Amino acid sequence: MDNITYHSNKISDSSRAKLMGQHGCVLWFTGLSGSGKSTVAAETEKLLFEAGIKTFLLDGDNLRFGLNSDLGFSKEDRDENIRRIAETAKLMAQAGLTVLVSAISPYEKQREKARETVSPVAAFVEIFVDAPAEVCAQRDPKGLYKKALNGEIKEFTGVSSPYEAPQYPDLHLETAKSDVYECAKAVFDYHAFLQSADGLMRVVTETAVKAGEKIIEIYNRGFSVDYKSDNSPVTEADKAADAYINGALAEKYPDFARLSEESSDDPSRLENDFCFIVDPLDGTREFVDRNGEFTVNIGLSHCGRAIAGAIYVPVTGDLYYAFTGRGAYRVCAANGYTVFSQSDRIFVSEKTEEITVMHSRSFLDEKTKELIDKNRGRISKAVPCGSSIKGCLIAAGKAESYYRFSAGTYEWDTCAMQAVAECAGGVFLQCDLTPMRYNRADTFNAKGFVVANTRENIWII
Ligand code: ADX
Repeated sequence: MDNITYHSNKISDSSRAKLMGQHGCVLWFTGLSGSGKSTVAAETEKLLFEAGIKTFLLDGDNLRFGLNSDLGFSKEDRDENIRRIAETAKLMAQAGLTVLVSAISPYEKQREKARETVSPVAAFVEIFVDAPAEVCAQRDPKGLYKKALNGEIKEFTGVSSPYEAPQYPDLHLETAKSDVYECAKAVFDYHAFLQSADGLMRVVTETAVKAGEKIIEIYNRGFSVDYKSDNSPVTEADKAADAYINGALAEKYPDFARLSEESSDDPSRLENDFCFIVDPLDGTREFVDRNGEFTVNIGLSHCGRAIAGAIYVPVTGDLYYAFTGRGAYRVCAANGYTVFSQSDRIFVSEKTEEITVMHSRSFLDEKTKELIDKNRGRISKAVPCGSSIKGCLIAAGKAESYYRFSAGTYEWDTCAMQAVAECAGGVFLQCDLTPMRYNRADTFNAKGFVVANTRENIWII
């Protein structure tokens, strides 16, 4: 990387998207040989093409005749194969295309890296094309399983080389149960949803801001405080904001499930791929203490992933929001705003020295204290702060990390914050360094979590 300079061009990604009439996107089909990846990808491309979407299909097999003709099937070669495909897909998505990739991509790490490569410029959709290994071997469209089983092909995926099935794909297609059209239609529909982010984020951000206005009304006129069974405070502001958000989201997105701190839990949400995850007033303690550090959080999860979020800070008027593949943004809502305006985009900082560590105002646990003490040399400030503002400050490059080792938070405390932090280029993990998932049966975040600008700033005790 020495002696090279990155040149920026004069056309922004958003003006390019305007001219193209679409936002670049990568639809990444992974699965065993014979699972139906290429068939479903080709059918999806046909549906997209007919709908006027500008597409291009990168097929692993075909790329091995050219771009990847020097690579075989060892672990190293496959890693390099996927790296090149991901970089190519990124460039094409940046040019505004919907890129369909069909490659076995057998390792979870490769696919995670591909996501990290693509995500800063476009949505990355991991599509698990799933069919039982026996079915794939039986289909054997190229006669390769027969050869592999006879030992004529070495390191054959599913026979003599591993396939790590995605744990949390964005879409899970079972080609032995659904026909090609049904599978392709599911991808087509999710693609259409991703393209409709402007409308969705207008609704979600406006809903958060209006709920915030209702909260401020009550904040200014005074309120009484009740205590829930777990001793946490609740006020009429929590309830008024909840009722408003529920009504607004139900009206505009009746097909999406909802999970809210202040509403009774409807278990049918578990059957729904989409779920709004809402904390109508995050930081009720701060609200009661009148220190201004409370937020309205509206997150959206799809198949367990935090894909969008809005966080509104009623007292300052700051609104943070994000959507997968489109980045994270901050505006002052009172000034009016158009969603996804490039000048409002925020990014995490690149700092790894003299960093600012955020921690909870109400709970500073022993482990966090210990961690701060141990790393004094690299920390310039440890700042207490309430609610999701901590994660927003990291997203905006104003702080670098936030640890929450102790349990005590729920999905609604983190979903919107995770979307904002990740879309700003940051990292959000559970404290055991596994990914945090949403719309779970048990909504308690038992493992705690950590948010940071970069993986380097995630210190392990
Ligand atoms: S990947 O593992 O690196 O993602 P890729 O999708 O590019 O693989 O190529 C897989 C294709 O190569 C298969 O569809 C099959 O036609 C062919 N192939 C040849 N040898 C192997 C092998 N050892 N394992 C899997 N596929 C193989």
